Amino acid sequence: MTLRKTSLAALIGLTLLATGSTCATAGTSGNARPWMNPKLSPGQRADLVLKAMTQGEKFRLIRVDFGDTENGHVMAPGALGSAGYGPAIARLGLPAIQESDAGLGVAKPLKLGATALPSGLATAASFDPTLAYAGGVMIGSEAHRRGFNVMLAGGVDLVRDPRNGRNFEYAGEDPLLAGLTVGNAIAGIQSQHLVSTIKHYAFNDQETGRTTVSADIGEAAARESDLLAFEIAIATGHPGAVMCSYNRVNTVYACENDWLLDVLKHDWHYPGFVMSDWGAVHSGAKAALAGLDQESAGETFDKEVYFDKPLRAAVASGKVPQSRIDDMARRILRSLFAAGVMDHPATQAPIDFAADRKVAQRAEEDGAVLLRNQDALLPLSAAQSVAVIGGHADKGVLTGGGSSAVQSPQGNAVPGLPPAAWPGPRIYQPSAPLAAIRQRAHGTVRYASGDDIAAAAKLAAQSKVAVVFVEQWAAESFDAPHLALPGNQDALVDAVARANPHTVVVLENNGPVAMPWLDKVGAVLEAWYPGAAGGEAITRLLYGEVDPAGRLPVTWPRDESQLPRPAIPGAGLASIGLPPQGQPAQDVDYNIEGADVGYRWYQRKHLEPLFPFGYGLSYTHFDYSGFAPRVKDGKLTASFTVTNRGKRTGVDVPQLYVTLPGANEVRRLAGWCRVSLRPGQSAQLTVTADPRLLVDFDVHGQRWQRPAGSYQLQLGHSATSFQGDGQVALPAASWAADASPAGAVQPCMADGVR
Ligand code: BGC
Repeated sequence: MTLRKTSLAALIGLTLLATGSTCATAGTSGNARPWMNPKLSPGQRADLVLKAMTQGEKFRLIRVDFGDTENGHVMAPGALGSAGYGPAIARLGLPAIQESDAGLGVAKPLKLGATALPSGLATAASFDPTLAYAGGVMIGSEAHRRGFNVMLAGGVDLVRDPRNGRNFEYAGEDPLLAGLTVGNAIAGIQSQHLVSTIKHYAFNDQETGRTTVSADIGEAAARESDLLAFEIAIATGHPGAVMCSYNRVNTVYACENDWLLDVLKHDWHYPGFVMSDWGAVHSGAKAALAGLDQESAGETFDKEVYFDKPLRAAVASGKVPQSRIDDMARRILRSLFAAGVMDHPATQAPIDFAADRKVAQRAEEDGAVLLRNQDALLPLSAAQSVAVIGGHADKGVLTGGGSSAVQSPQGNAVPGLPPAAWPGPRIYQPSAPLAAIRQRAHGTVRYASGDDIAAAAKLAAQSKVAVVFVEQWAAESFDAPHLALPGNQDALVDAVARANPHTVVVLENNGPVAMPWLDKVGAVLEAWYPGAAGGEAITRLLYGEVDPAGRLPVTWPRDESQLPRPAIPGAGLASIGLPPQGQPAQDVDYNIEGADVGYRWYQRKHLEPLFPFGYGLSYTHFDYSGFAPRVKDGKLTASFTVTNRGKRTGVDVPQLYVTLPGANEVRRLAGWCRVSLRPGQSAQLTVTADPRLLVDFDVHGQRWQRPAGSYQLQLGHSATSFQGDGQVALPAASWAADASPAGAVQPCMADGVR
């Protein structure tokens, strides 16, 4: 059967083109408020409001208060109990600004609850931008129905270190994958008439010492790594706001960093506004002149409210021109109009939690990664008796902590675990794997908490298979000091595997951990933080009701010695039994790996990781043939055939890697396809290499340069395993820093399925 090209969008991870446009339905208020005319452009509407604003109103718009009661803050009447609140300007018909975290769901008010998506890493692991978009739509819709009009979502800092406590909020180590994933999530959120941020700009790649540390990196490496992820995500999702980060970049605080904000606003022509992170502002005039447009919760988290009296004084003295204040207000207004905040005001409305849970379930089913499956231990069969062990699997699944943590409307499935204070509480989603396994297994299913290792091993010995859930809680504000699983979990897995070699380990974690027992267990499923329906999703994967489709968006090291920085001084959190060793450093040197983040570092250093980027098993297997790289209309493309050679329907993600002339074996992911095939079925696919991955940044000339010469193209099952290789010549080309090459319009095309 040959399908038409257009009908394959659902089958393959085609990037959704986000327009950021709104279909305005609200009426106008006549000439008194001409900016309410939805036929005008967001910029024109912002200009009209600006003309009508007093200086006081402008100064009110460029700062937002804390919206919650923590830290001794007295919540303003009208605030919703969340991260940020700016009062309405009723005279002009401007609604209150109501801000909530974050990218995995509506985090606040915690008690009301919301639907939790799985980790950002799970969504990235799907290699499916349409899934990221659907997740964004879901959380945007819940946020709007809670009355929020700004979501503090869009975390896209690259994973430079598996110990970073916020990796679960991000989208992995590769700029193209992270940029397209997060850009589409942002587009999904904004389709629901909210502004979404993208954050944390930039190089907030560790939590240890985050408010003081200087992330040091050369300009070319910066532009080709984390900044490229931001650039791609911004071009894809058009976020209304960029949140500048806590840390310093090359010694200068991110929120007053001229260079960083100039790259954003000048080189990338970013029309939105820059808001600070909570407590990330250190100056008035300096930050405003560098490009910060809005101070967040300064009265609670900064030394003073810099964007009030100090900035007013700077304007009065002529240090900061009035035009800059107008630009700040205009950018904020423009983003609010562009997202449809004025035309579709956020109001309290019922939420269909059952439908939203399905979105979260699908994200987990598509994003969990099968790392090991000896002798086809998985999928399980219903006839087997099962020992379910550890990880509170009788109650639910774990969630990462900090400002992004989402609690279910049913509450926390395992309350009271440390830490009691920030960045706690430690939250579990009430979706118990044990119950879901019981629904499927006809054999006996028994549970052991794992606290008593001998009892757990005994139970495993009495069962046909053992499924051990292990967990690693991570959260904003701290990094793990090492890769080991906390507590006695390694000993638990070891004892269970000795008692029964048919042991399956399910990881609920922030990302790569050490697995000293790996060779002894039959199977390992990386479930990340599995989200609202995690228990069901994991169980469906274990029983083969869905094929594990996830591929690693991060490299899995063998141990800390393989990392660019073997230690993070000062990492840890005493209240959960991980006491920090030493003091946080003043600087973190990202020039060590530079732009060679993740798998590129391993290639450069000839290191063999435990599992490579892009790796993940399926219950079937795929074969690639007919690899034909060529240059078409000036674009580098590769066509090939993927065939499902196994006995089950499954999903594959063939990946196109490119090595630039003279790049010394360091290849880059330049595109991919995602395809679902029945047994024996083949698909003819063409991937176009994203032109943004074929250039290097020339600092001296301030240009992107595509070198002339022979480009090596490889078709990968992962970043280290290839079935298809070829060379193609391209002429030199170059683009000015403020005119970066455009992304691939159709990154994956299906020419047919047989
Ligand atoms: C985090 C941000 C978050 C903000 C508001 C900060 O601690 O770094 O990601 O959006 O708090 O809650």
